[in-house]
Amino acid sequence: MANPAVIVNFKVYTEVEGESSLRLSQICARVAEESGANIIVCPPMVELGRVCASAGIPVFSQNVDPRSPGSGTGFTTPSLVKSAGAAGTLINHSEHKQPAEDVAKCVELCKALGLRTCVCADTVADAAILARNSPEFVAVEPPELIGGDISVTTANPKIVGDTVDAVKAVDSGIAVLCGAGVKNGADVKAAVDLGASGVLLASGVVKSKDPEAVMRDLIKFI
Ligand code: G3P
Repeated sequence: MANPAVIVNFKVYTEVEGESSLRLSQICARVAEESGANIIVCPPMVELGRVCASAGIPVFSQNVDPRSPGSGTGFTTPSLVKSAGAAGTLINHSEHKQPAEDVAKCVELCKALGLRTCVCADTVADAAILARNSPEFVAVEPPELIGGDISVTTANPKIVGDTVDAVKAVDSGIAVLCGAGVKNGADVKAAVDLGASGVLLASGVVKSKDPEAVMRDLIKFI
């Protein structure tokens, strides 16, 4: 299988406010460079430009809105994300959900700009529906496990395997990720063993006292 993806979503934790986002991104970049691991970072929206300019690693936005440039105060267009230097974006994260038609529009706008897309889903059924937009990634994350200490791969391995099957039945070219509670290399290995193409995680890295050690551990089996 292709080099599994490890997408680190910084969310909006205090730990990543200001220059801390750039520092964490540079840690991720160092680990990626040394190991060859396929690591992507998602800094807070207001840090996107600064991180893209200096991090030396692929950067995704945490969200885009289904909007074209023009009037739209406070919205984030795919075009703005692209011009900030991002390689892609999360869409429909469990903490920032959008109606299905808006997700479709976001994916379409991003593809037109050459932006990579990771569409999130709470359930197998949602993942299958959203796969119809053919994003690069579909990431399944049971909301009740997000931010917790038990990895989805331990608490609910079935949702991972079932999502892989459901998404691949719609579009075999989509890479399926899983997330929620992922903390270490064993969790990442379990995800890959279940058929996933990587993981989407946040608190295990962002809230750690030693994010570099966590990053090295996360990629040790891949
Ligand atoms: O986007 C990643 C996510 O929602 C999972 O968060 O803290 O459980 O790794 P966490």
